Amino acid sequence: MTDIHGQEVLVLDFGSQTTQLIARRVREARVYCEIHPYNIPVDKIEQIGPRGIILSGGPASVYDEGAPTVSPLLFGLGIPILGICYGMQLITYLFKGKVERSQQREYGPARLSIDDPDGLFHGLTPDPATHQVWMSHGDKINALPRDFIGMAHSESCPVAAMRHKTLPIFAVQFHPEVVHTEIGRDVLSNFLFQICGCMPSWDMRSFVKRTIADIQARVGSGRIIGAISGGVDSTVTALLVDRAVGHRLTSIFVDNGLLRKGEAETVLAFLKQFHLNVHYVDASKRFLSGLSGVKDPEKKRKVIGEGFIRVFEEEARRIGDVRFLAQGTLYPDVIESVSFRGPSATIKSHHNVGGLPEVMQLELVEPLRELFKDEVRKVGQELGMPEELIFRHPFPGPGLAIRILGEVIPERLEILREADAIVLEEMKASGWYRRVWQSFAVLLPIKTVGVMGDERSYDNVVAIRVVDSLDAMTADWTRLPADLLARISNRIINEVVGVNRVCYDISSKPPATIEWE
Ligand code: XMP
Repeated sequence: MTDIHGQEVLVLDFGSQTTQLIARRVREARVYCEIHPYNIPVDKIEQIGPRGIILSGGPASVYDEGAPTVSPLLFGLGIPILGICYGMQLITYLFKGKVERSQQREYGPARLSIDDPDGLFHGLTPDPATHQVWMSHGDKINALPRDFIGMAHSESCPVAAMRHKTLPIFAVQFHPEVVHTEIGRDVLSNFLFQICGCMPSWDMRSFVKRTIADIQARVGSGRIIGAISGGVDSTVTALLVDRAVGHRLTSIFVDNGLLRKGEAETVLAFLKQFHLNVHYVDASKRFLSGLSGVKDPEKKRKVIGEGFIRVFEEEARRIGDVRFLAQGTLYPDVIESVSFRGPSATIKSHHNVGGLPEVMQLELVEPLRELFKDEVRKVGQELGMPEELIFRHPFPGPGLAIRILGEVIPERLEILREADAIVLEEMKASGWYRRVWQSFAVLLPIKTVGVMGDERSYDNVVAIRVVDSLDAMTADWTRLPADLLARISNRIINEVVGVNRVCYDISSKPPATIEWE
């Protein structure tokens, strides 16, 4: 692609939890970036011709047997290299410096004293009081390798940053990619712009162009199917694939009978605007009869997962000759780092069409697997999706089934749909909907005593769950204003027949999860 040719930066992944964050920060600096396994061959790197290479952190010690490493040839390419944490230890080890094995991890904030204010620390004052950095490492560097110069230290880390005297090789012990490292953005920007000479020209438009070209190359003239739920991830995925291969993509919208009030109609109306090749399958009877008598949460998920697989198998047979499956997998859905597992990384078992690729022997196309949710929303904006769709809260594949504790029966689905619709209405009317990650109602499997008019009632309890989160990996309950909670509660109790009590869930994740099942 002309817009990024010769501008990219490669992140070599040594298995750190924050590898994707490094890539994200590089993208935020508007530089194109790709993550590759640490063992990508050097000649492949030469072919790509990146402007810079970042070696990520990782859980290993350089002294571990089979510890991940790189070819020393990498350092002779003349391409600027930045090692982060394990990346730094590896550089030290390969250049014969001294990495001290440690039994204890240093984890948390540290103050950085800058000793060399050029290069990586360009433009930063040497005053350590302003430089909080985040450390998370076991081993550390005690003696510089030959031909390296120390650039910074902290109280517990004599070499917190270093550079080679003549080669463009830099390394830091702290994590510039995490938000707690106040100077992190500056350090990365200095690497990208001062050292690598990158241009800040990458944006979501380039992402869209590039991704469409990648999908075209991958899918060729094949046929591809995808599940579309009307959520932002699956819709953005479908739009990208549609732009790449047009109507060779069939997006399947499965009504499993577990959707929110008016969901199927709303979503189909949305999708119509985009002229996608959407196939609507009403499988609600099949799902509900499969769920009959099932109370156990895992069993519910299994029944629903299998239901999706059956529907997809039938649809694929109907379409014929399908080789690919498009999935809106995001980075937080990818549990394991790609580097140690190869390209078929494990997907969260609860992903709504999990199991499908193996059963049907389909190749996965996952254009969003390196992105975070807010980045996907930006891609959606780039693709012209309406705000209403872009900012929809996530909704799980198993739908209301995992929000009805106990058996899922039509009467209880009806109660939950009504209560849930009130929650959403009030969240939207008060302007809170856009400020939170998710908001919904849960129907509990107990009844409590109440008084309605002069009558005793014995009815259901609804719990309200509203959470703040960045990526659903952690979450906290939202401190909604009391009058909003009061309005939601009053309306549910007054308007939803069969409910006489409303509770607010004040648990964080962890240790609770966002969904109740
Ligand atoms: P938990 O409950 O694990 O949820 O804290 C984290 C996020 O994932 C959503 N979720 C699911 N999404 N299929 C999905 O597509 C599922 O089976 C599923 N279970 C949970 C949940 O709504 C939250 O956003």
